[in-house]
Amino acid sequence: MKIRHFLQFKDFTRDEFEYVFARTRWIKAQFKSYQKYWPLNDRTLVMIFEKASTRTRLSFEAGMQQLGGAAIYLNTRDSQLGRGEPVEDAAQVISRMSDIVMIRTFEQEIIERFAANSRVPVINGLTNEYHPCQILADIYTYTEHRGDIQGKTVAWIGDANNMCNTWLQAAEVLDFKVHVSTPPGYGVNPELVGSIDPARCQVFADPLAACRGVDLVNTDVWTSMGFEAENEARKEAFANWCVDAEMMSVANPEALFMHCLPAHRGEEVTAAVIDGPQSVVWDEAENRLHVQKALMEDLVLGCVT
Ligand code: CP
Ligand code: NVA
Repeated sequence: MKIRHFLQFKDFTRDEFEYVFARTRWIKAQFKSYQKYWPLNDRTLVMIFEKASTRTRLSFEAGMQQLGGAAIYLNTRDSQLGRGEPVEDAAQVISRMSDIVMIRTFEQEIIERFAANSRVPVINGLTNEYHPCQILADIYTYTEHRGDIQGKTVAWIGDANNMCNTWLQAAEVLDFKVHVSTPPGYGVNPELVGSIDPARCQVFADPLAACRGVDLVNTDVWTSMGFEAENEARKEAFANWCVDAEMMSVANPEALFMHCLPAHRGEEVTAAVIDGPQSVVWDEAENRLHVQKALMEDLVLGCVT
């Protein structure tokens, strides 16, 4: 049987996302009413981190425990992964001792090679190119607050990074539009987003214009992990790409603000916006837990309803 992985957003179909969102709703409701739900009793998640994390580690580790399973944390510093063991060999060994693996690493190619040699499902917990678990949580959060995202418009303000690439893939799978505004030289790499219908992705030189009439405004740090050497140049280039009250004021009055966190107030977003009434960043962070529980249940057990 072919093993299912979640390495990029486009690995799942619209029907599969609808199923995961329905399971998320149910699993979240169980959790909120203190009902024990242990479908992954005796199952083990291995989490491999080559970059820092707060939310991803916490949500996967707590999530696996809440589903009755166990989670093991490995990082590059304390394991053979940082000492040149081939990814393919690591995948063979790790996947013989576990039921599911989550990896946060640098190049997408690393996680693809791991998955190709894994006996168990592999989840992308962030690569330089994509962050599919975050967009899963973001879209679930949008749906909770405003209903179906189909036909809506999302503004992406800032760096065309792993988050932006994943939003563009999601727009294709779930049928919504993205307005992208990045500083010159930091635009979308078409190779990373696949075949995007131009009607779905509109590029704006002016971030204010990109926010006009949209249903959701989204941004992220100016410098992603792994690109720290570019920090000073980016601070200069991104200075006008700070989501502020003026940008929110031209969006749809019902528009939400999201940020995957961690945030830098005064850089990519003002405190007034991220701490303001349109911001749903805490729900967004919490929903990482719930959507990933549904995702792990789906990948390990298949359809349970
Ligand atoms: N949003 C997110 O992935 O956060 P962490 O880097 O803390 O995991
Ligand atoms: N784009 C950011 C997201 C962090 C969760 C990064 O890759 O560092």
